Amino acid sequence: MNKWALITGGTKGIGFAVADCLAKAGYNLILTYASSDDVAAKVQSDFQNIHHNKVHILRADVSDMNTIDVIDRFLEGEDLKLDALVLNAGLTCRDPFETMTFESWNRVFYANVHFPVFLLQRIVGRMNRESSVVFTGSLMGIEPHSVSLAYGVTKSAVHALTKNLVKFLAPYSIRVNAVAPGFVDTEWQKNKPAEIRQNIERKVSVGRFADPHEVSEVYKMLIENSYFNGEVVVIDGGYSYK
Ligand SMILES: NC(=O)c1ccc[n+]([C@@H]2O[C@H](COP(=O)([O-])OP(=O)(O)OC[C@H]3O[C@@H](n4cnc5c(N)ncnc54)[C@H](OP(=O)(O)O)[C@@H]3O)[C@@H](O)[C@H]2O)c1
Repeated sequence: MNKWALITGGTKGIGFAVADCLAKAGYNLILTYASSDDVAAKVQSDFQNIHHNKVHILRADVSDMNTIDVIDRFLEGEDLKLDALVLNAGLTCRDPFETMTFESWNRVFYANVHFPVFLLQRIVGRMNRESSVVFTGSLMGIEPHSVSLAYGVTKSAVHALTKNLVKFLAPYSIRVNAVAPGFVDTEWQKNKPAEIRQNIERKVSVGRFADPHEVSEVYKMLIENSYFNGEVVVIDGGYSYK
């Protein structure tokens, strides 16, 4: 198989699990990350040694618009065309409503909404026909977020983008969908205090966080099933509002 998938934020958490799932299915990978060089280097050698896939790792911070050039130049330099684009990296801001600044609000919008839109605009010509885009949305884009206004609103925007982009990507024969995970046991969640984690577990019908690999299978399905288009697929273990 000579298929290529690019995953933003692909060295840890959900992005890494999607990379692992796609690698097992034979995809070659381009994974971006922001700062953890050591983790990125290990991920690259593990994938090459275990799955024998071609793997490129790019340092490309989604809060810096210049990194769109980095990704575009890389694809051009390697003359690569993509079969899957997973727009997964995202940021949050937990400043209280009363004290949040325009800069912190804007940073979350930039990373979660502006960056993926303008990355996609730049590299859409480097995606094969019948290829697929998958965004990482969030249950918090459907249910109001209890802490971060910017996070909930940007993830709602990601869900709206998913539906609106269908008609702009149809001329390229590219499908676009989103996964809206509930609470997934990544660093993002593991860093929360035990009491908050227990509150979350009480609200989920299955009584636990999702394993990132459970979530990754939904991405693979959306990439490979040729009739999903414009869908936001929720995977939340039965969030029950308890
Ligand atoms: N975990 C959840 O419960 C949950 C639920 C719903 C939605 N989500 C969404 O899922 C996505 C991934 O979250 P996660 O929980 O998997 O996070 P994670 O475990 O913290 O992994 C984050 C990944 O993204 C990279 N990254 C972080 N900041 C970045 C930036 N500014 N630019 C480029 N890459 C960056 C990290 O690389 P470095 O370590 O090098 O920075 C790492 O590879 C986010 O969009 C998040 O909103 C998560």
